[in-house]
Amino acid sequence: MSDFIQELKNDHRVIQQVVAGMSAVAELLDSGKQVDPSVLADLVQFLRVFADRCHHAKEEHHLFPLLATNASVSTRRELESLEREHRLAKQLVGQLAKVAAVYVHNPGAVRYRIIDLLQQLVELYPAHIWKEDFLLFPLAQQNLSPAEQRNLEEKFENVEHEVGEDVHAGFEMLAKKLEAVVEYRNTGACPLCSSAA
Ligand SMILES: [Fe+2]
Ligand SMILES: [Fe+2]
Repeated sequence: MSDFIQELKNDHRVIQQVVAGMSAVAELLDSGKQVDPSVLADLVQFLRVFADRCHHAKEEHHLFPLLATNASVSTRRELESLEREHRLAKQLVGQLAKVAAVYVHNPGAVRYRIIDLLQQLVELYPAHIWKEDFLLFPLAQQNLSPAEQRNLEEKFENVEHEVGEDVHAGFEMLAKKLEAVVEYRNTGACPLCSSAA
């Protein structure tokens, strides 16, 4: 497998860990518990920086345009659909940021809205990632020349550099931290719940 595909797949695994965490946070809120507001702020930051500014940028600014060149109509349609899903995710995250700010002072007022937004994001990502992992990346592996693949690897490195490699590593830590909430959600000892819960 080419390095640039491995890199995108590694990003996907980190996003999937956070999506599992988001699902657990939504369940906790739905069961009447309160979560520490910093968890929602961390999620928003992850989705904005790691998922959108870093991962979506690698795909939208570099991989997708390359694949769209000389692509079939069905591939172009698929690329447009994936871009629409990136835009939808961005809109949902924008809304989540607003209600997460209200949650700090008035959790009861926005609890349902936060659950709804988290669930929409949880529903969006797995199918999106599946289409890229199993339909788009094999096509890229097959159709891109070695020179194009090397060029993509350089472009991806620039994206990571712009975002900041420390920031990237920090988000991988957050993904691990969120894994804890998935494990603890049924025990009542959730490490992310606020003491007021
Ligand atoms: Fe994507
Ligand atoms: Fe992706």
